[in-house]
Amino acid sequence: MYYSDEVVEEVRSRNDIVDVIGSYVNLKRKGNSHSACCPFHHEKTPSFHVSREKQMYHCFGCGVGGNVFTFLMEHENFTFPEALESLAERAGYDLPKQEMSAEAKRQADARTKIKDMNKLAAGYFHYLLKTDHGTNAFQYLKDRGLTDETITKFGLGFSDVYSDDLYKYLKNKGYKDDDLKDSGLVKYDEKHGFSDRFWNRVMFPIIDTNNRVIGFGGRVMGDAKPKYINTQDTLVFDKSRNLYGLNLAKKSKRPGIIFCEGYMDVISMHQAGFDNAVASLGTALTVGQVNLIKRFTDRAYLAYDSDEAGTKAALRALEIMREFEMPARVISLKPYKDPDEVIRAEGTEGMEKRIGEAKSATMFEIDVLAHNYNQEDPQERTQFQKEAAKRLSLISEPMERKNYIDSVAKQYDIDRDSLKEAVTQYGITGATKVDTFAFRDRNRKSPEEEKEQQQLKSERLLISWLINENALFDVLKNMISPDDFFEPVYHDVIKELYEQYNRDGKVTPAAIMNHYQSKEEHEKVSMIMQQDFDMEIPQSEKSKVVTDLVKTIKLRSIEHQLEMTKGDLTKQSELIMAKVKIEKMKPINTFR
Ligand code: CTP
Ligand code: MN
Repeated sequence: MYYSDEVVEEVRSRNDIVDVIGSYVNLKRKGNSHSACCPFHHEKTPSFHVSREKQMYHCFGCGVGGNVFTFLMEHENFTFPEALESLAERAGYDLPKQEMSAEAKRQADARTKIKDMNKLAAGYFHYLLKTDHGTNAFQYLKDRGLTDETITKFGLGFSDVYSDDLYKYLKNKGYKDDDLKDSGLVKYDEKHGFSDRFWNRVMFPIIDTNNRVIGFGGRVMGDAKPKYINTQDTLVFDKSRNLYGLNLAKKSKRPGIIFCEGYMDVISMHQAGFDNAVASLGTALTVGQVNLIKRFTDRAYLAYDSDEAGTKAALRALEIMREFEMPARVISLKPYKDPDEVIRAEGTEGMEKRIGEAKSATMFEIDVLAHNYNQEDPQERTQFQKEAAKRLSLISEPMERKNYIDSVAKQYDIDRDSLKEAVTQYGITGATKVDTFAFRDRNRKSPEEEKEQQQLKSERLLISWLINENALFDVLKNMISPDDFFEPVYHDVIKELYEQYNRDGKVTPAAIMNHYQSKEEHEKVSMIMQQDFDMEIPQSEKSKVVTDLVKTIKLRSIEHQLEMTKGDLTKQSELIMAKVKIEKMKPINTFR
């Protein structure tokens, strides 16, 4: 459903953000701001702020933020239209009846249909498991130690031995061949016509965080190949953005999310009480999955298989975790192969102990390194120590680095001072890629990156100033224009703010949010809007600060234009004059 900007803004303005968020979290009022512990990440001290004045929220802890729509999209997992509809209803506002574009309607209908078919299929598979047809499958699951309760909780099932059993079942329910093709549940080829994708397999429905069946994994009951078949990507199933078990794990009271490799591992973990276990869906961990869990947790555990493939997968996963600033630890399963085996051998207690002893990402990586070298051979041992030092030099927090040096020296019996010296050395020369694996550290930035960051920060801060002190628009309007802003989102925001100010004589930050639908953009925009520094900077300093911001932004803008107009001598000399003028610029009089 598509609604006009006016309707969107109408709905937004009828729903006070403090009231809406207040009905979900316990907001404490402090001056103009309301705060609470963030509902999107785990924390003990409140860093989640809601501003009535700006009609925005922002968490300084995890970076989420936005307007009242964003909040519902995040908190209820709504799409934008769903959030809009829900808020319209809340405010007793009748949305104009409007036809969806034909294409949008077709897509929405197709999605709903697939979800409905999946739900029917899951019910049918589960039913079969309990009938005579499913005796073997049921026994198989029992033999693997699953209780009736677990089987029900995960909705496990059985796809019958006939190759068109489900096809017929769904046809009987009124679905057309074309619908069935889109569902991923059946296959079609010219020679054989329609047949089921899954047959004679134990079925694992894959359920998303909205409790909808989006796909299936099916396992053979024996050693035949392939061991698993999974639903291919459909309109509702995107492997890279979902996790098996997250529908349950998101409600867990246990700390963190535990990543396993297999469906069976997840089920076994839950049965043993670790209801925070999830697994990727037959692929390596993806960025989309880390983003997905960020909403529910502040730390990850890896319980990947203890073989070489599992170790490699863990190293890759750790890289992604680091890149997305998700603290991660690795659970050792040795000498067992996977979590399922550990639980069978050592029970809940054994697993609990292993979780408690999980290694930090750094220690795990160094441990893997250690095993790549023959520690008895002096040359190889030296090589190992160098690589370990390189890895340690990437830790940017001094205290943390020191602690790791101590631990590594102790554990691998390396002279502490020489290790420290080597780490310092690599820290200065800049450890290039660590040999065996690519270790990256987000906190380490090149000078160009630093400059870039500085530039972005200036753009952000200047926008914040303008929002907090609308009078500055009059002062700055002839000095700086939206085109001087480099970051596309900031450019659009400032443009919109100028327009609002020219039109209404004031700005309405939360309305700008209506233009953005991605979470990243909402976070970026909300971060600017929520910045409040009246208290931090005395009035006397203001003029200097604002002038510096204008200078930084203008100079970068001119430099960019110089690049773009190479060869155009008239333009270039104009720009150089402008540049000199900016460099010599006196503090702007910000009081008018
Ligand atoms: N997988 C897959 N296709 C295969 C093999 C594996 O999609 N042919 C995926 C499945 O998601 C599986 C995971 O990789 O759950 C891990 O594989 P594996 O460890 O072999 O399976 P388990 O789930 O541990 O199953 P089991 O305990 O029955 O061996
Ligand atoms: Mn396994």
